[in-house]
Amino acid sequence: MAITISENIKYIGVDDTDIDLFESQYIVPNGVSYNSYLILDDKTALMDTVDARCMNEWADNLTNALGDKKLDYLIISHLEPDHSGSILKLIELYPDVTLVGNAKTFAMLPQFFDVPDVEKITVKEGDHLELGSHTLTFYMAPMVHWPEVMVSYESTEKILFSADGFGKFGALSIEDEDGWACEARRYYFNIVGKYGGPVQTLLKKAAGLDIKTICPLHGPILDENLEYYIGLYDTWSSYKPENKGVLIAFASIHGNTGKAAEKLAEIIRAKGEEKVVVSDLAREDMAEVIEDAFRYDRMIVAGASYDAGVFPCMLEFLHHLQSKAYQNRTVGILENGSWAPTAARTMKSVLETMKNVTIVEPTVTIKTTLKEENMAALEELADAIVASGK
Ligand code: FEO
Repeated sequence: MAITISENIKYIGVDDTDIDLFESQYIVPNGVSYNSYLILDDKTALMDTVDARCMNEWADNLTNALGDKKLDYLIISHLEPDHSGSILKLIELYPDVTLVGNAKTFAMLPQFFDVPDVEKITVKEGDHLELGSHTLTFYMAPMVHWPEVMVSYESTEKILFSADGFGKFGALSIEDEDGWACEARRYYFNIVGKYGGPVQTLLKKAAGLDIKTICPLHGPILDENLEYYIGLYDTWSSYKPENKGVLIAFASIHGNTGKAAEKLAEIIRAKGEEKVVVSDLAREDMAEVIEDAFRYDRMIVAGASYDAGVFPCMLEFLHHLQSKAYQNRTVGILENGSWAPTAARTMKSVLETMKNVTIVEPTVTIKTTLKEENMAALEELADAIVASGK
């Protein structure tokens, strides 16, 4: 992929368009890119390697871009295998390379592979690496998204190499018609979402830098309108809703709970709520529904009772939200149960563990199918969820 950053900084990353599941859990219909950058100066520096799945294509990009220059440094921003998977190949190609990482990088590195005997430089917060006319400064970014993560700022061209931060699903060779935010948001909440505090810390460090370009490890290079991207990251990492709206996530066995969810959406819309999204947890991409749960300020969970609990896809959804630190939202509950409804108390027991989640009343219980006798309670729940968004 020919992507121009500047005369002396080359993109040498690769697209992975046939991976079935990223991290063995996220569908990526448009693939994903593993970004890697090469700085050519008196000294040369490679910013991360790529997943072993794409090692050969990447190695060709590297050797072509480097030509007859030697490679001096490999900066290891992040050890997750989608970025460290080709380090051994790199050392095989350039045995004189010096690895640059922090203390945690080098403590964890031998867990991934037997590290050959190469030079290493251990950097800490604020350390510099002079390359000639370019200088890299390192900033630690623990838990964005692993403990050893660090970002690098190149002060001549004012580039932030941001590791997974500002990353996005989608191969660079495939145009994303939905724009940056859609797949960046799905990536953020599902992969980095638990670590809002560390992201806030990194944003505060970045605020002190004059940044013209952000080079993440996935997705496009960002070189204009940076306030937009940084603003979204600030909203997301502070667990503030991005938009007003109601997500209704339902878990329905035979369709009746789904019908009740759709009816509730219709009632809420009729009350003037502009954005109401209905999602079928049994069939839709769970990561997309997680993204919407964080995106909007309110949510209704509608679940069928099952085995004295709730239909499993709802429990899985709530556990995902719990592990991603879902918080600061208003939630309504609808349950279905044909003989002994248990879904509401099961869903509530998970929601109650979350920080600053307000559960609105009433909890609506239907028995098998929605009946006229349920309509008053449905109206009341709709009123409560609409009022809570004012
Ligand atoms: Fe792209 Fe956390 O690895």
